[in-house]
Amino acid sequence: MKYDPKKVKKRYDKIADEEDRSEKNPTLRTEIPREFIKKYIRKTDIVLDAGGGTGINAIMMAKQCKHVSLIDISTEIINYARKNVKNAKLSNKIDLFEGDISNLKQFKDGQFSFVVCVGDSISYVLENRFKAINELIRVAKKSSILIIGCDSKYGFMRQYLRDGNLEETISIYKNHETYCSMGPRTHVYDIDEMKQLLEKNGCKILEIASTPTITDAVDKKQYHEPKKWAKLKKLEMQICIKPELLGTGSHLLFIAKKK
Ligand SMILES: C[S@@+](CC[C@H](N)C(=O)[O-])C[C@H]1O[C@@H](n2cnc3c(N)ncnc32)[C@H](O)[C@@H]1O
Repeated sequence: MKYDPKKVKKRYDKIADEEDRSEKNPTLRTEIPREFIKKYIRKTDIVLDAGGGTGINAIMMAKQCKHVSLIDISTEIINYARKNVKNAKLSNKIDLFEGDISNLKQFKDGQFSFVVCVGDSISYVLENRFKAINELIRVAKKSSILIIGCDSKYGFMRQYLRDGNLEETISIYKNHETYCSMGPRTHVYDIDEMKQLLEKNGCKILEIASTPTITDAVDKKQYHEPKKWAKLKKLEMQICIKPELLGTGSHLLFIAKKK
């Protein structure tokens, strides 16, 4: 299917309240990238948060760095981000832009020292992924860290199989594409594809994580109690980089450095 930015925008405009709630209620899908962001971000960083959503990651980062620019395709999502940033009293440290990660015309070459694109917008741009990766790397200065999150091919195949949909599972295996639970059509990556995409564009891979791995299928209610949740998260952080488990979860996270 061909990438249609209008469709993605419309979808996120419609579910902006749901997206805002989900960013505010941590799951391991959102928490693991946050832990990697905390690990790599520096006080002096000028950050781009691409496909940044309602600003919860941007707010966390703005407390730990110099400045954040958040760009998102959805007008409604940006409206939520504006409210959240204002409530956090961080409007002086976070700028908001409406736009598409596959054309970052608002930003200069090498403008940022830390580039984050988590939460799968790099999957939703389908065939525009080559342009988008190029753009994310273009706006990063030399030696910057990039943190990129995408939908995982084998994780998605596992989900569709669990739901009893063998035909779609086989189709994902062949075509690397399907629908994600939030609605947009998504390009699902295996490790080699994203690794090559980043390396071909002048990046060195530092770490790869599955977000999450064996805890992807847990019944969240069982781990609701804060101490249990903290233990589960600690366990997941220890195992999510194990090579034998990468690709098992529904999402993948790549930490790369621009050479
Ligand atoms: C699942 S949310 C993730 C939000 C946040 N980054 C996080 O990880 O919690 C995906 C976000 O990407 C945005 N998005 C999707 N495609 C995009 C594109 N091509 N350019 C910019 N933003 C996009 C959506 O509007 C949505 O806010």
